[in-house]
Amino acid sequence: MREYEVNNRGNLVFGGCDTVALAKEYGTPLYVIDEEYLRAKCREIRETFLEKYPNTKAVYASKALQTLEVCRVIKEEGLGFDTVSGGEVFTALKAGVEPETMVFHGNNKTLDEIEFAVKNNVGRFVVDNEYELENIGIIAKKLGKTVKVQIRITPGIDSHTHEYISTAKIDSKFGVFCEGETRDSIIGKAIDNPSIELMGFHCHVGSQLMDNQDHMMALPIVLNMVKEVNERFGFAPSELNLGGGFGIRYVDSEQETRVADFTDPMMEEINGFFAENKLPVPTIYIEPGRWIAGNAGITLYTVGSIKEIKGIKTYLAVDGGMPDNPRKILYGAEYEAVTANRAAVPANKQFSIVGKCCESGDVLIDKCNLAENTVSGDILAVFATGAYNYSMASNYNRVPRPALVMVKSGKARLSVRRETYEDMILREI
Ligand SMILES: Cc1ncc(COP(=O)(O)O)c(C=O)c1O
Repeated sequence: MREYEVNNRGNLVFGGCDTVALAKEYGTPLYVIDEEYLRAKCREIRETFLEKYPNTKAVYASKALQTLEVCRVIKEEGLGFDTVSGGEVFTALKAGVEPETMVFHGNNKTLDEIEFAVKNNVGRFVVDNEYELENIGIIAKKLGKTVKVQIRITPGIDSHTHEYISTAKIDSKFGVFCEGETRDSIIGKAIDNPSIELMGFHCHVGSQLMDNQDHMMALPIVLNMVKEVNERFGFAPSELNLGGGFGIRYVDSEQETRVADFTDPMMEEINGFFAENKLPVPTIYIEPGRWIAGNAGITLYTVGSIKEIKGIKTYLAVDGGMPDNPRKILYGAEYEAVTANRAAVPANKQFSIVGKCCESGDVLIDKCNLAENTVSGDILAVFATGAYNYSMASNYNRVPRPALVMVKSGKARLSVRRETYEDMILREI
C-alpha cells in the first residue's frame, strides 16, 4: 500500500482522481491503475540500475499485469518484456513491443508457442529443460533461424516466501539444478546445436522478497556454476539473468523496497567475480513484475451485506472477491483497505472482508479496521492490487471480470471494459 490522499469531500484520491466518482462512473468492482506510478517505478529502475551500470537490461514480468496499454507505457519507459506464454507474447506484439526486447519463459512451452515465438523473432528464450531445448532447435532449423537462449538454473535454495512463489529449490518444477549431469548435458547440447546460440543463464529465486537475503544467497552459487562451466566447456556467458522477486509493501507494517537494495549488492559481487576470474562481465538482466505494478493498482468494490455475529466478528461482503483477487485464497496474501467515501473517518471498527463467491475461503482481508459508520452501499478500496489480480482473475461462479481504468494526474480513461454475461458464453457452441 501507499500513503493515501483524501479530498475535501472525505473521499480517497488515487492518481489524482476521486475514487468514489470513479466507482460511480465505471461501476464496481473496478481495477484502477495509476499510470504515473508505473512510469515512476520504471524511472527508478532506469536511474538506479540501467543508467548506473553498463550492459544491463530490465524486462518487465508481464504476468504481474498485462494489458495493451500497460505494455505501451512500459515500452515507452524503456523496459523489455518477460513473457511466459503464447498469449503474453501475442499481447505484447499487438501493443507494438519490439520482439527482440522480449524474453520468453515457461517450464512447458508448447510446440505451437515455440514456433509462434521463433517466427516472430522473440529475442531470448529462457530454456527450462532438455526436451524444450531440443524442440527449439528443431523448430529454429525448420524456420532457418538461430535462437538465442538463456538456460534456467535452480541454485537449490529455499527462499523466504510462500511455498507457491518460491522457485529456486532443488525440488522445483522450474529449470535444471546448477550442479551435476543434467546441467552439463543441457549446456553441452545447447553449445553443440547450430540452431541455438547459448547466451548464458537465468535464475529467479522467488517472489515478494522483502530483502536481498535470498538473492545474495543464490548469487554466489550461480557464479560458482559459471566458473565450473567455464572450466569444463570453455564457455563464458555473455548474459546473466537474475530474475525478479523484489517485494512490495502490501500492509502498513511493511517497508517499501528500492530496486537498488537488490541490484547494488548483486552488481558489486558480479563485478568482483568477473574481474577476479578474468572473464568479461556479461549483460545483466532483471525481471521485476510486482515491484512495478503492485502498488500502481487499487480495486474498488461496493459494500453489500454486513453481518455481525455477536462476540465473533462482523462480516462485510463486497461485490467481488476471489474471482478478481485470488491471491488470498492462493497464498494467504494480506491487504489493507479503506472505506473510500469515509477515508477521513478514523478506522476503528474491525471487519472481516469477504467476497460474493460460494466458498468460505473467499476472504479478501481477515481483519480490517474501517470507519465504524461504514454501511452497505459504501465504496471499499483495497490497496496494492496492481499485480497478480487482473492477470489472475477468473469467472468463478460466472462472475464477470471487472473493468480496468487507467488514471493519470486526475484524469481517468477506460482501458478494459467490464465483462458482460454475453462475453462469458461467447465461446460456447
Ligand atoms: C522467471 C520469473 N521472472 C520474474 C518473475 C516476476 O516476479 P515478481 O513479480 O515477484 O518480480 C517471476 C514470477 O513468478 C518469474 O517466475
